[in-house]
Amino acid sequence: MLTSRIVVDRDFVISALDRRVFGTFVEHMGRCVYGGIYEPGHPTANKDGFRQDVLELTRELGPTIVRYPGGNFLSGYNWEDGVGPKDQRPTRLDLAWGSTETNEFGTNEFITWCRTAKVEPMFAVNLGTRGPDEARHLLEYCNHPGGTHYSDLRRSHGYEQPHGIKFWCLGNEMDGPWQICRKTAQEYGRIAQETAKVMRWVDSDLQLAACGSSQRAMPTYGAWEYEVLDHCFNEVDFISLHAYFRNDKDDIKDYFTVIEDLDYFIKEVAAIGDAVAAKRRSPKRIMLSLDEWNVWYKAHTPADLRKPGWPKAPPLIEEIYNFEDALIVGGALITMINNADRVKAACLAQLVNVIGPIMTETGGAAWRQTIFHPFAQASRYARGQVLRTKVQTDTFSTKTHPDAALLLSSVIHDEETGAVTILALNRSTTDDMQLEVELRGLGEGRKVSFASELHHTDLKAINSKMAPNAVTPKDRTDVAIANGVLSARLKPLSWNVIVTQSA
Ligand code: AHR
Repeated sequence: MLTSRIVVDRDFVISALDRRVFGTFVEHMGRCVYGGIYEPGHPTANKDGFRQDVLELTRELGPTIVRYPGGNFLSGYNWEDGVGPKDQRPTRLDLAWGSTETNEFGTNEFITWCRTAKVEPMFAVNLGTRGPDEARHLLEYCNHPGGTHYSDLRRSHGYEQPHGIKFWCLGNEMDGPWQICRKTAQEYGRIAQETAKVMRWVDSDLQLAACGSSQRAMPTYGAWEYEVLDHCFNEVDFISLHAYFRNDKDDIKDYFTVIEDLDYFIKEVAAIGDAVAAKRRSPKRIMLSLDEWNVWYKAHTPADLRKPGWPKAPPLIEEIYNFEDALIVGGALITMINNADRVKAACLAQLVNVIGPIMTETGGAAWRQTIFHPFAQASRYARGQVLRTKVQTDTFSTKTHPDAALLLSSVIHDEETGAVTILALNRSTTDDMQLEVELRGLGEGRKVSFASELHHTDLKAINSKMAPNAVTPKDRTDVAIANGVLSARLKPLSWNVIVTQSA
């Protein structure tokens, strides 16, 4: 049996965990909006047309913030099309996904959905086909109290109170050749700078995120971040990262190392932000928004991305997640949490149907995909200060990663409730692991208040309508604490959550 040891001390803190790392994403794409969160006529639909089965699962999943309206869709979107009387809204071609967009759902419907789901909205402005002018008008529509053209337009649409949206993304994946009106780093850096400037003049209390590279593998990666931030460093708070994990070799060890790559990615982008700061001798630190991340590689064929004939809300990229994907999502969450000093927002892409933790049938059932579980547990239990961990564990090697730790872990201390939560991923493919966690300075007589394990003997096991709980966490009662040291046995290939409470 393997043994691993973690030591933490209450005084050795990485950072407070920003709860916005548990965000998700709703794009006008496939069946994420239509047939996902919104389906008037569905047996569970409420008066607003929101599926209440999806709302209930969303609340259980526990996102804190939800990004909207895209994604690639954003770069061709006219926000004005999606407000006002529904029967007067234009139907448009969505060039990003080859679909027909009815605009039956738009800004105000999304805000109402967010209020119902009790999540914060994260909005994005179109810097593809549009620019600072439309961005400032949208912001005025959303956040200005009244007495101006756009704020009064909102009021005339039945929304007397401003929406108060604080977090805004300046465009989406502007470096990507697939993007409607892609830009060079210089073009984008300048438009992001000017857009941020005028948006702050409309509302001084905003958090703004510039687009980083659309993936770490982009040929312009690094240079893009530097040049963009060199333009808009003073005007923005965040730079975005997008990361979609793949298991092309169908090799679990190799697949696991996407988590190491995510850690490199985060540290590299933080370093580039710091280099831009250093050039200016500035103490300001640009924070990171991982505003699209997930496993996505199976439903990635041309037929998954686009259907012929400009259909309305066709099924697109409906990835079916298996048990190994859930382990990857758990590992990615640990990595983001352990980088809590720089990752202050993140969005699991997307929420429902489209690479979603929630799956639905149009007109029918809704269920939890495998990746739902690590996200829901981390969002529920990871609160407070992220502690530095000193970890002793064995390693495994792959061609690209000679020294990868078998144990991945986070320890988070909630000073308000006294809870200490341990997230632990045993990446051994064969061996049980005896884990010991020494909890220094965290009080005598601590007790385990919750412990659970996500494990399945089949890495390819999935949840489905017929078997919605095939992959689901199981509570356990065999985790002990004695003399400030917690002991737990972790199965090979398992995601574990242990919560302790002070006496
Ligand atoms: O989430 C699906 C798509 O992936 C988004 O629209 C885009 O931003 C990314 O390439």
